[in-house]
Amino acid sequence: MLSIKDLHVSYGAIHAIHGVSLEVNDGEIVTLIGANGAGKTTILHTVTGLKIANSGTISYGDLDLRATDASKLIKYGISHVPEGRHIFPDMTVLENLEMGAYSTKKNRRELEKNFTLVFERFPRLKERYKQLAGTLSGGEQQMLAMGRALMADPKILLLDEPSMGLSPILVKEIFSIIRYCHEIGITILLVEQNAKMALGIADRAYVLETGNITISGKAKELLEDDRVRKAYLGQ
Ligand SMILES: Nc1ncnc2c1ncn2[C@@H]1O[C@H](COP(=O)(O)OP(=O)(O)OP(=O)(O)O)[C@@H](O)[C@H]1O
Ligand SMILES: [Mg+2]
Repeated sequence: MLSIKDLHVSYGAIHAIHGVSLEVNDGEIVTLIGANGAGKTTILHTVTGLKIANSGTISYGDLDLRATDASKLIKYGISHVPEGRHIFPDMTVLENLEMGAYSTKKNRRELEKNFTLVFERFPRLKERYKQLAGTLSGGEQQMLAMGRALMADPKILLLDEPSMGLSPILVKEIFSIIRYCHEIGITILLVEQNAKMALGIADRAYVLETGNITISGKAKELLEDDRVRKAYLGQ
């Protein structure tokens, strides 16, 4: 579904991504784990066109994403939940959710169906639908960012550290929502520093270290890998 080959990305003189290749197949949960500064966000930004690659290919089905207008991605079913959430703080919860479907040109009935689905899944958002998003707690903002992405009926969700800064209970809740998204047929590329949770939920995983994929394989196998256990699981 999503295929990245030999990707190189730089910020000026800093070469951040050194020839990364990775694949996400239809229906999979794939996780990309790695320490601060490894380049995880840079890869997602390059997929969504927020950052321009130096070289390499990024394809989504038959589509060449490097040659595709970033504003069209949502129509092709690619939703990005960015690091730090980036909700619209001065808009209400309801307005933020509407924005998620904005460029998909859904009719009223389709919108209502998606609101129902999101509110069923996130009762906290339903209770707070009139509240300004900037006044939500961190966990609620993460739910809003995910709910907003779901409003567009994505085929693939790109999640950038959804568990960051959340309490253990909320982390569990966010991961149960990721599982639910997977169950309803959404393919997931999950960027995480919480390697234990991410490897627990994923089918396959890649470890990124200073811009290089150093380990990849079935998530279950990585949980047993000594290098992963030492560096990312604190064991
Ligand atoms: N706008 C920028 N200008 C210059 N360097 C940048 C910029 N954004 C990222 N970098 C550098 O690129 C490298 C990769 O950063 P990136 O944000 O992709 O890492 P990350 O794996 O997402 O880290 P984290 O887990 O902390 O979010 C880092 O060395 C970072 O300092
Ligand atoms: Mg990041």
